Amino acid sequence: MKAFILDRYRKKGALRFGDRQEPSPLPDDVVIAVRAAGLNQLDSKVRDGEFKLFLPYRMPLVLGHDVAGTVVRVGANVRRFQPGDEVYARPRDGRIGGFAEFIAVDEADVAHKPGNIGMEEAASLPLVALTAWQALVETATLKPGQKVLIHAGSGGVGTIAIQLAKHLGASVATTTSTANIDLVRSLGADVVIDYKTQAFEDVLSGYDVVLNSLDAKTLRKSLAVLKPGGKLISISGPPDPAFARTQRLNWGLRQVMRALSFGIRRKAKARRIDYSFLFMRADGEQLACIASLVEDGGIRPVLDRTFPFAQTNEAMAYLETGRAKGKVVVTLDDA
Ligand SMILES: NC(=O)c1ccc[n+]([C@@H]2O[C@H](COP(=O)([O-])OP(=O)(O)OC[C@H]3O[C@@H](n4cnc5c(N)ncnc54)[C@H](OP(=O)(O)O)[C@@H]3O)[C@@H](O)[C@H]2O)c1
Repeated sequence: MKAFILDRYRKKGALRFGDRQEPSPLPDDVVIAVRAAGLNQLDSKVRDGEFKLFLPYRMPLVLGHDVAGTVVRVGANVRRFQPGDEVYARPRDGRIGGFAEFIAVDEADVAHKPGNIGMEEAASLPLVALTAWQALVETATLKPGQKVLIHAGSGGVGTIAIQLAKHLGASVATTTSTANIDLVRSLGADVVIDYKTQAFEDVLSGYDVVLNSLDAKTLRKSLAVLKPGGKLISISGPPDPAFARTQRLNWGLRQVMRALSFGIRRKAKARRIDYSFLFMRADGEQLACIASLVEDGGIRPVLDRTFPFAQTNEAMAYLETGRAKGKVVVTLDDA
């Protein structure tokens, strides 16, 4: 089969378009004929070697963390899926490989694709929707009437997080640039901060939750908008000791993560704010809940651009401009 392959970690390095053996399923796997694959900043970060200490991959590696497609084979233990099913998935860490014609995925990471959207839209959802779910439902336990600030509302995570927070009954503020104000309003944002002309920390106060996906400066400033007892959840770092424990990292790495997050944890504690770093995980059951939400109209995918599979490197470069409005997806219909 054809795939986009990483031969060694390299900053901004192009992926090699080459041949790989078609996967056979382990007993708990489904093999998916990929029809569309979503791109994520995580693909670029893995390629650049940024995560090699706690996500050590053996080369050559097929990148790609999001897929939608049709089941073509199932392993002996699989009960929930059969050939012909239309599914979507965020394959677990260690078993990624969506930039390929086929991928074997543990059935626990897979769900039936929402029936009211196409393959491209379905492939845009898993990683960012699971991130939003794990941040707002699991970590924040967001309640109706609470106030949440979602940074970068026009991005892959932001476009879904705004809609999920509204679905949960929260009041949502978001940051974006002038050009994307209408987009984030159309997704339900109640308060829009144009970061080109306003400083969010001067405008917002008394918030229950902040979801940060931006830099360390934004993270620090976000403390000022939270009320005591509020939650600061960051998906862009710094990693904290709790994350190191769940990843079962060695003692040395645990100390590194403790040190990296020491400053923000100390500042948060002084204000009685709970800081946590979230690194999303694969979860087929949550994806099934998200599929229901999409079918009920609670969440709609936001696609910025699709590229043909052959242009996966161009699609990566586009995503890496950091200006995407929603998601970037490659389609395999022409493969
Ligand atoms: N830890 C995890 O589990 C996890 C999961 C998912 C993502 N992430 C991380 O979260 C970050 C965001 O991911 P993503 O997929 O949402 O990225 P993305 O789709 O590439 O984000 C692009 C968006 O960010 C906006 N943006 C850029 N600078 C901004 C600023 N200063 N203020 C407000 N908005 C700004 C841009 O809007 P404008 O053009 O209007 O500026 C653009 O729409 C990445 O670092 C990613 O690696 C982590």
